[in-house]
Amino acid sequence: MRILLLGKNGQVGWELRRSLVPLGEIIAWDVDELDLTQVGAIGLAVREAKPQVIVNASAYTAVDKAEQEPEIAKLVNAEAPTILAQEAKVLGAWFLHYSTDYIFDGEKGSPYTEEDEPNPINVYGRTKLEGEQGVLEADGLALILRTSWVYSLRQESFVTKVLKWSRQQETMQVVDDQIGSPTWARMLAEVTAALLVKGQALGEDWLKERRGVYHLAGSGAVSRYEWAKEILRLDPKREEQIVQSVKPVKSDWFPTAAKRPAFTALDCLHFQEAFMVRIPYWKDALSLAMKQLV
Ligand SMILES: NC(=O)c1ccc[n+]([C@@H]2O[C@H](COP(=O)([O-])OP(=O)(O)OC[C@H]3O[C@@H](n4cnc5c(N)ncnc54)[C@H](OP(=O)(O)O)[C@@H]3O)[C@@H](O)[C@H]2O)c1
Repeated sequence: MRILLLGKNGQVGWELRRSLVPLGEIIAWDVDELDLTQVGAIGLAVREAKPQVIVNASAYTAVDKAEQEPEIAKLVNAEAPTILAQEAKVLGAWFLHYSTDYIFDGEKGSPYTEEDEPNPINVYGRTKLEGEQGVLEADGLALILRTSWVYSLRQESFVTKVLKWSRQQETMQVVDDQIGSPTWARMLAEVTAALLVKGQALGEDWLKERRGVYHLAGSGAVSRYEWAKEILRLDPKREEQIVQSVKPVKSDWFPTAAKRPAFTALDCLHFQEAFMVRIPYWKDALSLAMKQLV
């Protein structure tokens, strides 16, 4: 299998480089190999690479900065995935793409299913939704995996920030009015690899029947405040923490350029049933991830 991976240096992309290795030849790119804002260059680059599978883990993920750079966010999150999906169709390649819980407005109050109507409230969410639409309109063998609150211990993420703050602050304030599904980047990568193995074994028709949008995130839902407390509890180097108390605060305590949806937990039942995959509970995945710090 010849796999073109985009976004190789990102949280998910880096884990994909590990997880996809046993599957075949990996051509891994990031901005240095192909800058996705140069949309005119994408088609030729992909055609020359001749992949059988394209996995797109690249994205403009700076949620606040996107409010000031909507054109760049649109190029990377909407136009580039659309072109990649069109090229995949021409090549007869599978196209795996990631999207976000931020395509929802967060008002539902219970986990979102794939049937729920998107209604993004910031530039990042709007551009990611446009990307989904472009990928679906290309009408190829595409899977869109919407995920949420992705973290990695290799790069700056909410988990690494909480660990850093715990060594700098005696009192930590964390918002308790944002609820989501924390998702370990490695889990996403491993599930993606498992999908490709299944797809290879069960054939193109099996995958064709499953084209479309799925929710794939850590099981369960939690506030950022409760998540932070669990990170501190699981920290294998707790003796380094100076934090004495963690206080819940409301989002307006930390004004940000982009509005965040309040409740974006994802219901992943459809994905689990369609692909016969079990998604771990967010706390179990976090506990495994934190063992890397030992
Ligand atoms: N992070 C989250 O909490 C979260 C939540 C829900 C969904 N998602 C989705 O999950 C997927 C993976 O996210 P992630 O957390 O792994 O993102 P990430 O760590 O920000 O990685 C994104 C990658 O895309 C690359 N990229 C950005 N602009 C580019 C450009 N113009 N040309 C080529 N490459 C470019 C980045 O390179 P540079 O680092 O050099 O810019 C980076 O390597 C994305 O689709 C994202 O929307 C993420």
